[in-house]
Amino acid sequence: MSQAEPRLFFALWPGPAERARLVELQNRLAAPGRRIAAERLHLTLAFLGEVEWARLDTLAPLAALFCVPTEALVLDRLGWFEQAGSGWLGCSQAPVAWTGQVRALNERLAESGFRVDRRDWVPHVTLYRNLRKPFDMITVEAVQWTPEVLCLVRSERLESGPKYTVLRRWP
Ligand code: 2AM
Repeated sequence: MSQAEPRLFFALWPGPAERARLVELQNRLAAPGRRIAAERLHLTLAFLGEVEWARLDTLAPLAALFCVPTEALVLDRLGWFEQAGSGWLGCSQAPVAWTGQVRALNERLAESGFRVDRRDWVPHVTLYRNLRKPFDMITVEAVQWTPEVLCLVRSERLESGPKYTVLRRWP
């Protein structure tokens, strides 16, 4: 049976503590949009779109060059992408080490012929979709997160809703 080409992205997956804090914030926001289920909360580093199964192995050496920074991600700013209709939690101060690694990863992917997003990386965890206006501004207690693992994730749109599966992890 042939399987459709997977839609892939590289992301950071929150641990239980960070996830609980993000869910708490979703509860407080109670925004008029579609809330992202707790198990799907993540932070995208590079979005690849559809990739042929045969090219999956090409990704491994590129991902292996990613040096996970020891710098904490300080998620302390609410934001809204108007076009995408997504409300998120991001960083008021750019995480310099992460930004460098993410840029290098995206460059390696582009050099190897993968289609990546050329826009500057905006580190964020989407909390709500289908949001027609920004969140009401509430005071946010920063979520401090020091991720240790880079994940390659498959995104599927099933009848029951979106499904994310972590396919590989580095280191
Ligand atoms: P978002 O949360 O801002 O929507 C899986 O869809 C992940 O990849 C999401 O985190 C999503 O970001 C991101 N994503 C989806 N389409 C994208 C695109 N065209 N460019 C960059 N990131 C994308």
